[in-house]
Amino acid sequence: MNLKNKKVFLTRPYKVVYKDGDRIIKVFTKEHGKANVFNEALCQARVEETGLDVPVVEEVSQIDGEWALVIKYVEGKTLEQIMEEDRENLPKYMEQFVDLQLSMHAKRAPRLTLQKDKFARKIASLKDTVDATTRYELHTRLDSMPNHIKLCHGDFNPSNVIVRADGTMSIVDWAHATQGNASGDAAITYLEFALKDQKMADLYLDLFCKKSDTAKQYVQKWLPIAAASQLTKGIEEEKEFLSRWIDVIDFQ
Ligand SMILES: Nc1ncnc2c1ncn2[C@@H]1O[C@H](COP(=O)(O)OP(=O)(O)O)[C@@H](O)[C@H]1O
Ligand SMILES: [Mg+2]
Repeated sequence: MNLKNKKVFLTRPYKVVYKDGDRIIKVFTKEHGKANVFNEALCQARVEETGLDVPVVEEVSQIDGEWALVIKYVEGKTLEQIMEEDRENLPKYMEQFVDLQLSMHAKRAPRLTLQKDKFARKIASLKDTVDATTRYELHTRLDSMPNHIKLCHGDFNPSNVIVRADGTMSIVDWAHATQGNASGDAAITYLEFALKDQKMADLYLDLFCKKSDTAKQYVQKWLPIAAASQLTKGIEEEKEFLSRWIDVIDFQ
């Protein structure tokens, strides 16, 4: 395969996404690593088996010396785009977004990585940014959380939801999928909203807690852990905000 005549769909730090007919081609830079590309394909294949509406991953291939994922294209708009274009109906879209997340949490994918293992690995990797005392607190808190096995996306935000013309929705971007606690997954979603728009984050959390019959304090218990996890991405602009959320631990 080569990339001649293929349309650049978008560019990100570690990849370029192309559109090629009815397929999306995610071409990763060398730094992203071969194992991460195969892992994303494997996670997505495992999620396909749950019967959830997700695009089919078709190939892992090498293009001009770089690793690439070929995924079926879902025709539509992202929910993020729709939320921006039709602000008036934001509450309705947020409800649909939460319903979709809950329908995902109802699925099981018993061979995916455990969310707790992934969080623990991420906390441990923050040696240079978070001091040992805080890391210890984070690990202790994580250990004390219940063990659930719900399908979690790990980066569930409206840019990863494609809405078709008929209103049905497909979830993309499964690189961070795990099995674990819905509220841990919701804590990540909350922080992603809060980084951009606190009002949207609050609306999201209200609806998530109401629809899943979850206490807000319980989701909040996950926030320092989720913040630590997001901090590992190393995005400079997010550092101060996420560090503040990690430090919430100190006041308890
Ligand atoms: N299978 C797909 N069908 C349609 N659009 C897609 C598909 N996969 C990704 N996209 C689009 O490309 C964007 C980036 O892809 P994504 O897999 O979410 O990577 P990342 O968010 O890590 O950059 C998505 O937000 C979506 O707009
Ligand atoms: Mg994405």
